[in-house]
Amino acid sequence: MNLRESVFSALLHAENYISGAELAADHQVSRTAVWKVIEHFRAEGCEIESAPNRGYKLVSHPDLFCESYLKQAVQDCRTDWQFHYFKELDSTNRFAKTLATRNAPSGTVVIADQQTAGRGRTGKSFYSPAGNLYFSIIEKLPLPVSDMMSVTACTAAAVFLALEQFGITTQIKWVNDLFLNQKKICGILSEGSFNAELLSMDYLVIGIGINLHHDPDCPEELQSIITDLETETGKRIHKYDLLTAILKQLEILLDGISSHSYLDIYTKNSCTLGHRVRTDDGTEGTAIGFTEDAGLIIELADGTKQILRTGSAVVID
Ligand code: BTN
Repeated sequence: MNLRESVFSALLHAENYISGAELAADHQVSRTAVWKVIEHFRAEGCEIESAPNRGYKLVSHPDLFCESYLKQAVQDCRTDWQFHYFKELDSTNRFAKTLATRNAPSGTVVIADQQTAGRGRTGKSFYSPAGNLYFSIIEKLPLPVSDMMSVTACTAAAVFLALEQFGITTQIKWVNDLFLNQKKICGILSEGSFNAELLSMDYLVIGIGINLHHDPDCPEELQSIITDLETETGKRIHKYDLLTAILKQLEILLDGISSHSYLDIYTKNSCTLGHRVRTDDGTEGTAIGFTEDAGLIIELADGTKQILRTGSAVVID
């Protein structure tokens, strides 16, 4: 941990004022060096009070990345989460896949403040302006390829539960979206590499994008489709508190993935079930349930059932 990170971590965890002298002694630097670090954080948007004879107090901070803060939040996890942070990337999924092929361990998390070529499902792009939460997780689970869709659904359930912890109740749209007030706030894209000999996944990259803040430059064609947590709830959620809450929930749900324990949450909070849907090939029917591996069961007009495992199902009424 470098000086900035370490001072930031000390400020974050201090209950009250922390003196410049104490910070300097703890880090074996001069008080001037501490003051320069404080000024750096102020320039980055942190509100830091300073009082004579008392020291510094962090009043508010923007979503500054601080590895030690994240590590502390996930210290009780079984997974050894490793964080890689970038101000800007083309796509955290793409970067995570590169890391995965270079033997990055399970539990590696790639985070970016902004993506210039964010990837969505079915080859679509994912609009990723600065300030939202974009991250990808490498998982090296010995899962059969048929469980790939379950991982996406399981992740949706984990994000749902994490948001509930912040008092936000969303709805899950099959298979990979979370909605709030009928608009999309989160998309999930799982990609991976398949081991043909073992018929299982070599690695999985689970990418999650969550809109946190209002974007004044949002393209017109997206304005009626997507929204953000702040606009819908008036809450400013700390980006990294949400990230660590998701990692903790995901760890629990992935542990139970072979017994499909996520399905209960996924089903109860679905906004697809019970509605008429249209699939990519034009088939229309009613979404009546999910298979154990998160396939969507659609009942057609003649009573026959179809299971959808790829593509999308648009709700038509
Ligand atoms: C979708 O809605 O179709 C899925 C969107 C997934 C977006 C996330 S943002 C982080 C990660 N990196 C990407 O390039 N895509 C995923």
